[in-house]
Amino acid sequence: MLILNKTAGVFFKPSKRKVYEFLRSFNFHPGTLFLHKIVLGIETSCDDTAAAVVDETGNVLGEAIHSQTEVHLKTGGIVPAVAQQLHRDNIQRIVQEALSASRISPSDLSAIATTIKPGLALSLGVGLSFSLQLVGQLKKPFIPIHHMEAHALTIRLTNKVEFPFLVLLISGGHCLLALVQGVSDFLLLGKSLDIAPGDMLDKVARRLSLIKHPECSTMSGGKAIEHLAKQGNRFHFDIKPPLHRAKNCDFSFTGLQQVTNKRIMKKEKEEGIEEGQILSSAADIAATVQHTMACHIVKRTHRAILFCKQRDLLPQNNAVLVASGGVASNFYVRRALEILTNATQCTLLCPPPRLCTDNGIMIAWNGIERLRAGLGILHDIEGIRYEPKCPLGVDISKEVGEAAVKVPQLKIEI
Ligand code: KG4
Ligand code: ZN
Repeated sequence: MLILNKTAGVFFKPSKRKVYEFLRSFNFHPGTLFLHKIVLGIETSCDDTAAAVVDETGNVLGEAIHSQTEVHLKTGGIVPAVAQQLHRDNIQRIVQEALSASRISPSDLSAIATTIKPGLALSLGVGLSFSLQLVGQLKKPFIPIHHMEAHALTIRLTNKVEFPFLVLLISGGHCLLALVQGVSDFLLLGKSLDIAPGDMLDKVARRLSLIKHPECSTMSGGKAIEHLAKQGNRFHFDIKPPLHRAKNCDFSFTGLQQVTNKRIMKKEKEEGIEEGQILSSAADIAATVQHTMACHIVKRTHRAILFCKQRDLLPQNNAVLVASGGVASNFYVRRALEILTNATQCTLLCPPPRLCTDNGIMIAWNGIERLRAGLGILHDIEGIRYEPKCPLGVDISKEVGEAAVKVPQLKIEI
């Protein structure tokens, strides 16, 4: 109802266009006829309404995104009901824009893929109900997508990466290390025991009132910290990396946030300013937090690499480490991970920053991966539900901790 009635004029043009579209969906090779699969991906798990149309060779035919970052910056964090309303206000326009940009007719789609887990219940609900309506109208297969799996597999759209590879997913809502053995075959090696690094950076940025900083007012917390850190001195004060003694691949960021808060309060006293005003040492604090976070992430990832090599889960040479998620768009973190991969004969691969943060392309691509592997393609959508909480793969983090792999010292000098 929604899309087709309002946009019938856009999608159903005269026959010349139809012929062109028909021809475009074929790729002629001598002696073979190859029909490209095309998937529409829809993402609403958190605070971005995103959609994209991607074909099976990884061509992005159309893309659109509406970010809610600026609204949530003003309220000091995501208010689920506000996020839900913004998704409702934008989803139809965003899907329409992605489809129009792709210049394909919706009838040419092979399937519709949508994030159904994990994420904010109210946000996931908007994407799912919109998608199911569309699936019903177009009579297309539906492919439910796990948001973190989609982040993890994005690299196979941009680079030629074979399974298995190690993935580090660091964003505002998630923090985990996993071995990717197949399209839907993941071993979870470790995760954050409390908050995610992006959440920690967002909280520190809020406590520093960076929204009032003229250079950072429209940036997400993490981006603002990265920006300011470039002007700061990370040696200004010292914070011990978290979980120093735990020989596993788990993470923790709450302690780092609390220590930083204490430091901010002390500095405010010293400078004689109130909470809400910008500290003169804000850049130093940003640099220290960013460095400590990067060292913690590197140490846990180092252990994951050694564990996987010891168990022959990864090749001894040229194993691939993929870093993705919003925090992986941070160049300081990337540089620190590069020091690690150089020291362990691995290759670091990161999707470009715009594919590290939430987007529709990764969802559409995950749909393509699943179509090609014949995994999780639904022709009957009866009873399909979103799942706000959903772990990734098989959790072997206890086994990783029991192995207690020792990690040699690595100097992170950037
Ligand atoms: O992957 P993402 O878009 O959404 C999910 O959380 O799934 O990640 C958003 C998070 C936010 O916490 C944001 O502050 C952080 O990623 N982020 C960054 C950078 N850009 C975004 N953190 C550090 N450095 C950045 N450049
Ligand atoms: Zn994400």
